Amino acid sequence: MPQSSLRIDAKLPRVGTTIFTVMSRLAADCGAINLSQGFPDFQPDASLFAATLQAMHDGRNQYPPMAGVAELRAAISDKVAALYGVRYDSESEVTVTAGATQALFTAIAAFVRAGDEVVVFEPVYDSYMPAIETVGGKAVCATLRFPDYRPDWTQVRALLGPRTRMIIINSPHNPTGSVWSAEDLDCLAELTRATDIVVLADEVYEHIVFDGASHYSVCSRPELAARSLVVSSFGKTYHITGWKIGYVVGSAGLMNEFRKVHQFNVFTVNTPCQVGIAEYMRDASRHLGLAHFYEQKRNFFRTQLQASRFDLLPCAGTYFQLASYRRISDLPDIEFARWLTREAGVAAIPVSAFHHAGRDDGVVRFCFAKQDTTLAAAAERLRGL
Ligand SMILES: Cc1ncc(COP(=O)(O)O)c(C=O)c1O
Repeated sequence: MPQSSLRIDAKLPRVGTTIFTVMSRLAADCGAINLSQGFPDFQPDASLFAATLQAMHDGRNQYPPMAGVAELRAAISDKVAALYGVRYDSESEVTVTAGATQALFTAIAAFVRAGDEVVVFEPVYDSYMPAIETVGGKAVCATLRFPDYRPDWTQVRALLGPRTRMIIINSPHNPTGSVWSAEDLDCLAELTRATDIVVLADEVYEHIVFDGASHYSVCSRPELAARSLVVSSFGKTYHITGWKIGYVVGSAGLMNEFRKVHQFNVFTVNTPCQVGIAEYMRDASRHLGLAHFYEQKRNFFRTQLQASRFDLLPCAGTYFQLASYRRISDLPDIEFARWLTREAGVAAIPVSAFHHAGRDDGVVRFCFAKQDTTLAAAAERLRGL
C-alpha cells in the first residue's frame, strides 16, 4: 500500500485496541485460561441450531422486514409482557438489532446531537463513551463507588442540566455484578420527571439475577418506560454471543426516531437466526432458567476461590465476579492482569479499563460463563498465588 500524505483527523483519538482484545490475545499467546472476555466456552442448545437450519430450508434466507421478522417481534412483545406487565406493540415498538451494541449505538446516534450531554455510570461498559463521542456528544460520568458500586443519586442530580439529553443505565451491571433496586428506579423517575431526558436502559443481563431477587426493568415502570429505550441481547440469554442478535423496545415515538437511524445503519438483521430464535423462545423456561444456571456457576466458582488470597466482592447478577487482589500484589490492575495471565495462566480484565481516567481500586473481573472444568482449573491456579 503506498504511503499517503492524507491528514487523518481522528474522531476517537484516545481509542485504541480494547482491553478485551488485548487480554484475549495475551491469553492465547500464553496458553492461559481465558476468564477475561464475557462469552461462554460451552455450546448452546442444539435445538436452536435445528430451528435455525429449518428456517434456511424453509426459504427464510432473504431480507426480512427492517424492524425484524414478525414472529420474533411478537415473541419479544409476549416475553416482555409476561415478565414486566407492559405490552409493547410488535409493529411499532419492537426492533431486532445486530446485538445490543448496535442497538445502543443506534439509540445514541438517533437522539444525541453535537454538544448534548449524556450521563453514564462508571465503571462503564466500554461501548457507550465512544458512541457518544462519535456523534459529538459529551459523556458526563456518575460514579458507582467501590466496593458496593451503588449509584449516588445526589451526585447524579448535580450532574443533570439543560444540556442533558440522555442517561444510560445498566442493570444487572457489567463489570461489577451489582443490580439496581426498586428505590434506584424511584430516584431515576424522580430526577427525570418534567424533563425531556431519554433513558437508554442496557438490560442485556436481565435474566441473570441471583438469590431469588428480581430484575427491576424500566419497562415495569410506566413513567420510566415512556421515556426509555430498553435493550437486551440474545447473545447473553441463549449462549450465542457470536450470533450478534439483540433487540430494543420503546414507545412508538422513540422507536420511530430509532428506526430512522437503524434503517440506514444496518437496515436489518439476518433472517434465519431470527426465525430460529423466535421458535426457540416459545419455551419460556429457557430464559427463566438462566438465573439458576448461572447462580450454580457463580457458587461453584466462589467456593473454588474460597481458599485463595483474592477477596471476592458480592455478585448479585451477570456472569462476572469481581475480586480484589490487594492481599496478593500492589501492582496497578493492568499490570496485575498481565502478570496473572503470564505467571498464573489465568486471564482477567482490570476494572480500571471501565473508568475513563483509569481509576484503580485493585480489582479484576473474572467471567464465570465457563464449563465447571474450566472454572476448576482456573481456580486451582488462582489458589496457588
Ligand atoms: C453491559 C453490556 N451491554 C452490551 C453488551 C453487548 O451485547 P451484544 O454482544 O449483544 O452486542 C455487552 C456485552 O458484553 C454488555 O456486557
